[in-house]
Amino acid sequence: MKTYVAQHNPQKCRECGWCSEIVACPGADELICIGCGACVLACPNQALELVEEPREKEVTIEVDGKMARVPERISVKAALAELGYQVGDVPEEPGLFAPCGVGACWSCAVEIDGKVRPACVTAIKEGMRIKTELPPDYTPRRLVLGFMGHETGGVGTPWQVRCSPQPYVEAACLAAGCNFRCPQCYNWSFAYQGKGDPLTPHETAERLTKEREAHRVSRMLISGGECTLNRPWLVQFIRELRALNTDPQARFHVQTNGSLLSHGYIDELVDAGMTDIGIDLKGLETDTFMRITGLKDRDIAEKYKDTAWESVRYIVENYRDKVFIGVGIPYNGELIPPAEVVRIGERLCRIDPSVQVGVLRYRADYRSHISPPSDAEMERIRDILNEEVGLETVLAWTEYGEIGP
Ligand code: FES
Repeated sequence: MKTYVAQHNPQKCRECGWCSEIVACPGADELICIGCGACVLACPNQALELVEEPREKEVTIEVDGKMARVPERISVKAALAELGYQVGDVPEEPGLFAPCGVGACWSCAVEIDGKVRPACVTAIKEGMRIKTELPPDYTPRRLVLGFMGHETGGVGTPWQVRCSPQPYVEAACLAAGCNFRCPQCYNWSFAYQGKGDPLTPHETAERLTKEREAHRVSRMLISGGECTLNRPWLVQFIRELRALNTDPQARFHVQTNGSLLSHGYIDELVDAGMTDIGIDLKGLETDTFMRITGLKDRDIAEKYKDTAWESVRYIVENYRDKVFIGVGIPYNGELIPPAEVVRIGERLCRIDPSVQVGVLRYRADYRSHISPPSDAEMERIRDILNEEVGLETVLAWTEYGEIGP
């Protein structure tokens, strides 16, 4: 088995402190590195990389009642993979689903010495007892942060709501962890945040409801990171939120990259009470999708891209009467050619020309140094999608906010 250690490059390090502030380093207390890679993902300056480092010693652990020997100083996830447990790319696949890799989503949770812990950022120890099946009474958890009143502007908010004379606020929270590695991510401190106490769906619903009451608004939003990573958690959260907010004005808004939204997952979310959804598509061509998301595995990228597109079609065709859907499409000439944006528009038009589309102004953030498109460029793209392609409601993000149809 190949084992790794994170190596620090002082030439690239700007001492920003994110690696100690947001990374749930499993070896921090003992000053060891288990090569989990969480800090490598989080560092905005790419000052850390994983390099191979063989482990001399092995430890004995018990997995699902069977004894096994694995190298010392590795993660539980790495040990399970070494022992032949499947690590899947989507929640429906059997085995461990470990999409964020930073201890945020808790999709990879397993029972370790009687406690449920995320396998990706837990270090193997001599004598450890692991059960891959969670206890029947386990309530899902995940890290959720950033509870706030947030001025609307997300993809999944109807334009008419945003046009109200007063600035319109949604009660919002952000689920930490993401399955994409977008170099220009603008919420990356949440995408790679592993520190904090994970919350149950009920705890999260209560906190978001309090936020709603404080701001006296009808809309409640969960975004991220990527809020769909932990499927049982999200479905239960929407259900709990609806149970706490039974008035007819209450809106339950999910903002997502759509990459995990299978038909069954969408059905569960709608059944739980989701009323609004914003889906950010990241491209039509797989090369573009990989460039924008930072994903390196072509097969996984293609699977995620196709699932996101199919989720839009499925919601439009099956739930248009119950769920408001808005679609975000990326724009920055350095990442996606304008001609592909037009083809995205044409494909959306074939699904339904009345779907609200927001053209997102991609700019430098996290690890990217791209120049943002000018406002004139954004307006031009909006006009092309509207007047030439035929999409009926196209919004464009500019330096000063959104401009509508
Ligand atoms: S993959 Fe381990 S917590 Fe998200």
